[in-house]
Amino acid sequence: MRTAHARVSVRSTDPAAATQEFADDVRYYLSQTPRQLPSRYFYDALGSALFDAICQLPWYRVTRAELALLAKHAPAILGKSTAGDRLVELGPGNGEKLATLLAAGLPAKTGVELHLVDVSGAALATAARGLSGFESLRIVAHEATYESGLRQVSKEARVGGRTLVLFLGSNIGNFDPDAAISFLRGMRATLRAGDRLLLGADLRKPEETLLLAYDDPLGVTAAFNLNLLLRLNRELDASIDLNGFRHEALWNKKESRVEMHLVSTKAQRILIPRASVDLTLREGDRIWTESSYKYEPMEVTRLLARCGFSARSQWVDTDARFALTIAEVE
Ligand code: TRP
Repeated sequence: MRTAHARVSVRSTDPAAATQEFADDVRYYLSQTPRQLPSRYFYDALGSALFDAICQLPWYRVTRAELALLAKHAPAILGKSTAGDRLVELGPGNGEKLATLLAAGLPAKTGVELHLVDVSGAALATAARGLSGFESLRIVAHEATYESGLRQVSKEARVGGRTLVLFLGSNIGNFDPDAAISFLRGMRATLRAGDRLLLGADLRKPEETLLLAYDDPLGVTAAFNLNLLLRLNRELDASIDLNGFRHEALWNKKESRVEMHLVSTKAQRILIPRASVDLTLREGDRIWTESSYKYEPMEVTRLLARCGFSARSQWVDTDARFALTIAEVE
């Protein structure tokens, strides 16, 4: 029986400012060549729920493989946690991974502080609820992007102790190689020597396997991608016909990435009033919504080394082809 519950505090963003930022991003990215929409906008309440469903699909093995690795290696990952230690997860989603890790490896009453950074308020609420049963934890939920969340966390008073940052799933895979380097270097700058990073990375695998993971026969992934258009309708007063677009996933071998696109199935004009967008699309025109880069285990350690982290252990699920790497700030 757990009696003492974690204390939860929430740092949320102003909804009006968030909508303005969404509108500015939509306007900017749709005017680029190629046309894009940033993938972080997938995660409104419905998008987060659809992503949870994706994680249950037999074809998307990332989350299950990672959960098994976390449960198995939790003691090695968490080490001897002491009061004042901090765990920071960027993009915890529903919080299941963190709960699995803590259940398998956190000694009771350690006084560890958890910081959850996620753009989805709905996901944060679910995660905080799921983790609140752990006693002697202080949970701070930051409704923020990775970068601004990390900045907020580094501004919070630090009693001493070490920080472990969790950047799981294939989140790093959603960055272009150059952006991954500057992101990890920026993260490194907020940390101290001895702090650690646990990094998930999905590995290269056969094209058929990858395409099933990102374009499943049930159509859940298609719904996840198309939900971005629904968000434009709901939040930015657009009136896009969702039947005028289809989901497309393709493997770009040269760049080692899966690309997700929304493809216009007809000639159409797209009006997004609150973002001042007036866009004319022909049949077959695309909006690029995400890339998911696939790595080799050695490429992950090399990437970390270039950003000031030295890899200590790497665990690979050779069947699902997924790697977890723990690295220390030099
Ligand atoms: N970060 C996840 C990934 O790259 C997100 C994701 C899973 C995703 N399936 C998707 C994004 C389909 C867009 C479309 O694996």
